[in-house]
Amino acid sequence: MNRYHVAILGATGMVGQEMLATLLERNFPAERITLLASERSVGRTLTCKGRTFTVELACPEAFEGVDVVLASAGGSVSAVLAPEAVKRGALVIDNTSHFRMDPRVPLVIPEINPEALEGHHGIIANPNCSTAILLMALAPLRRRFAIERVLVSTYQSVSGAGKEAVDELRAQTSARLRGEDLAPSALSKPIAFNVIPQIDSFLESGYTKEEMKFTHETRKILGQPELRISGTCVRVPVEVGHAMTVNVEFDRAVSPDDVRGTLATAPGVRLMDDPRASIYPQPTDAAGIDEVLVGRIRGDVSHPHAINFWVVGDNLRKGAALNAVQIAEELDRRGLLGVRRHAVAADPQS
Ligand SMILES: NC(=O)c1ccc[n+]([C@@H]2O[C@H](COP(=O)([O-])OP(=O)(O)OC[C@H]3O[C@@H](n4cnc5c(N)ncnc54)[C@H](OP(=O)(O)O)[C@@H]3O)[C@@H](O)[C@H]2O)c1
Repeated sequence: MNRYHVAILGATGMVGQEMLATLLERNFPAERITLLASERSVGRTLTCKGRTFTVELACPEAFEGVDVVLASAGGSVSAVLAPEAVKRGALVIDNTSHFRMDPRVPLVIPEINPEALEGHHGIIANPNCSTAILLMALAPLRRRFAIERVLVSTYQSVSGAGKEAVDELRAQTSARLRGEDLAPSALSKPIAFNVIPQIDSFLESGYTKEEMKFTHETRKILGQPELRISGTCVRVPVEVGHAMTVNVEFDRAVSPDDVRGTLATAPGVRLMDDPRASIYPQPTDAAGIDEVLVGRIRGDVSHPHAINFWVVGDNLRKGAALNAVQIAEELDRRGLLGVRRHAVAADPQS
């Protein structure tokens, strides 16, 4: 069995720490794991599953001898360091939005489009957390039924905005309970006891960047550039776990039982759908687990061809770290890891 030198770029962050835990939990064949972050964290130690690692500086030279980089330090860091890693023969699985829509960069959810990995040029993109969670339920349905239109509203946890946003939710909540106010800094508005219908900045169209990310990424992963899909992304005062209401219009009538039957056998999906017993997924069910949970499956009283459902997933796991590690596992299975044949690949931005 091949064993690889793995680097985690952004290892001290919410996703980076989950990447380390996921690699160790799943016994990824790593002979060495290097943790990289900014100069703020150099020398810091992180302990995970009984092993202690020291954080090193993320710089081009840090990728010498590395086989695979799991990158999650933000788009501007990936823009500079991912091509440097590729130049040194590493393969980069990038969790930021920077390369996702580049036509030369595969955007992959291993349960859905693993074949896209074959065409990589050294960088593979991991989808946005909402895209990954949505598509785990949507893609199996699309395999069986033609989809005409998708409407989504998200309820996204603060960990989706990084460790500072989690700290901010905790601090603001304590402050409000003491009758004080704490001004927001990581998020655009106060999040304690509130919901915010803005994630990322607004575009001319009135949508936010986050809303257009899952629109474009869904189309790319499904290979359906004309798919009619629209949504509203909302930040909620939950630490971990993104939830979504989804309305799917098919080209013909599809029953809730057809949807249940399809999702019951979909890999990585678990049904929690017994409304009479008040059984439906919540972020507290999804946090810390690998599967995406689906419930509240019902017909749409306003449209004979449409179905409503509710899907919840751990944004740090399937929405980020787990999907990235699954990509690395799939590359290993396909003999695409550690071969260094991409060492001369062009910088995808050039
Ligand atoms: N959170 C999610 O659910 C989620 C899901 C999908 C995608 N993403 C994407 O993943 C990325 C990271 O998200 P996160 O939530 O983990 O953020 P985070 O908790 O804020 O962590 C950011 C990480 O990046 C490192 N970093 C920042 N600036 C750096 C620099 N100049 N050089 C090297 N390292 C630097 C930080 O290191 P220091 O500790 O040294 O500052 C930290 O390790 C973002 O692009 C985000 O959009 C996040």
